[in-house]
Amino acid sequence: MILKVNSNSPDSTFKLGEKFGQLLKGDEVILLCGDLGAGKTLFTKGIASSLGINPDNVVSPTFVIMNKFEGDLHTLLHFDLYRLGENIDNNVPEIDEHINENIIIVEWAQYLSPSYFRLKNSIDINFSVRDNYIRIIKIKTSLDYINFNFI
Ligand SMILES: Nc1ncnc2c1ncn2[C@@H]1O[C@H](COP(=O)(O)OP(=O)(O)OP(=O)(O)O)[C@@H](O)[C@H]1O
Ligand SMILES: [Mg+2]
Repeated sequence: MILKVNSNSPDSTFKLGEKFGQLLKGDEVILLCGDLGAGKTLFTKGIASSLGINPDNVVSPTFVIMNKFEGDLHTLLHFDLYRLGENIDNNVPEIDEHINENIIIVEWAQYLSPSYFRLKNSIDINFSVRDNYIRIIKIKTSLDYINFNFI
């Protein structure tokens, strides 16, 4: 299933993340692809907020590979692969260790091997910048509970 949504403001991207986050069951691997400033972290803050995590604490993990947050019901693991970039050689063990246990969000997932996009519980979200304030957000997943009803 592919859902395509346009966001016309930072706030709208945050709110979209919040609504999306309410659908999660706790073991999804959310793969965020898109360039600098495309809105990946803002969307992640929205997801965090829906899980009962203070969104102000969600900043890209720059010096560590992963940040961990305890929500009301679920644990969120937030990865950002920007600095690892092209050096990633297929797999990221820190991600593999937690698959199926927690909600995993990966920024710069375009650096990952395609096998992550084939996981049965993966959700592939692509952000593209149309102009200063418009972002096109494309959500691809085979999970049937992620559907248009949330928008
Ligand atoms: N519709 C929009 N949705 C999201 N962000 C927007 C939008 N319009 C403008 N912006 C601006 O774009 C920036 C998005 O920043 P954000 O940190 O979420 O991007 P990112 O994809 O995580 O970038 P990076 O790869 O550097 O981590 C913010 O400065 C925000 O104010
Ligand atoms: Mg970011």
